[in-house]
Amino acid sequence: MKIMSLGYLRVESPEAKEWASFGPELLGLALSDDTLDRPDTVCLTNDDRPGRLTVSAGERNRLACVGWEVPNEEDLAEAVAQLEREGVAVRRGSAQECRAARVRELVGFTDPAGFQHELFYGQLVVPGSFRPGRAMSGFVTGGQGLGHIVLVVPDLAESLEFYRRVLGLRVSDEIDMHGNRVVFFHVNARHHSLAIMGIPGMRGLHHLMLQVDSVDDVGMAHDMCADRGIPLAMTLGRHTNDRMFSFYLRSPSGFEIEYGWGAETVDDEEQWVVTHMQSTSIWGHRPGDAPPPGCLEPVEGGPAS
Ligand SMILES: [Fe+2]
Repeated sequence: MKIMSLGYLRVESPEAKEWASFGPELLGLALSDDTLDRPDTVCLTNDDRPGRLTVSAGERNRLACVGWEVPNEEDLAEAVAQLEREGVAVRRGSAQECRAARVRELVGFTDPAGFQHELFYGQLVVPGSFRPGRAMSGFVTGGQGLGHIVLVVPDLAESLEFYRRVLGLRVSDEIDMHGNRVVFFHVNARHHSLAIMGIPGMRGLHHLMLQVDSVDDVGMAHDMCADRGIPLAMTLGRHTNDRMFSFYLRSPSGFEIEYGWGAETVDDEEQWVVTHMQSTSIWGHRPGDAPPPGCLEPVEGGPAS
């Protein structure tokens, strides 16, 4: 399956409207028009593709959908055939869903952990349109997509098998974190577009990482959190695997935003060697003052831990 990048994310939250200020003022995201004109939906982007991040009103904080980009119509058809061969039910997106997602065509399916995914091609691009919500350099996107996400899954082995073998995501490396195995996957030069952490009985979006162009962009966001009394989920630090210099702040919707700069990239033309590490950070990334993540939920039928 030819997945090229993490294209978009949709989340639901009781605090959806908060994103109209949090996104532009704190993160530097740009507000996009909502093509369906929903009063309780906030559309945001970090580049010239206005459909990157959609936050809609919902009863609880929930990752609604992960959108993966494939190159074209033929590759989408091939991906559908492959999913169906694997016994995965595939749903074709309606014209209205495609318009809301700002893509030519999309299909939806559910992964073994219960997360909704969409595969799409033909995402809307408006060249030269991106204006950050505050003074900053911009974001690393393009071929590297929106950023990366980390998901908590109840059964790591089952999800690892699905993402690697069925979706064709390539393992970058692994980290043993306090007894939890975290596996990182890449689909382009970004070190990881997805990572999964196994916690029995739980599921949810742990964080969305947005990578900025300048170290000063990280510093300015860090200052702004201090000025506004916004508690950090994790302090400044540098990750062991992708070498990202970042800190984590709590979004209005329970999950964290990792705000980072300076990550190393993966070159699949060279032989990429998978390693494993014993800690996530070389230094820093100490727990901050934020309350525990509010975007995880017990999986029905599974023991909550
Ligand atoms: Fe991250």
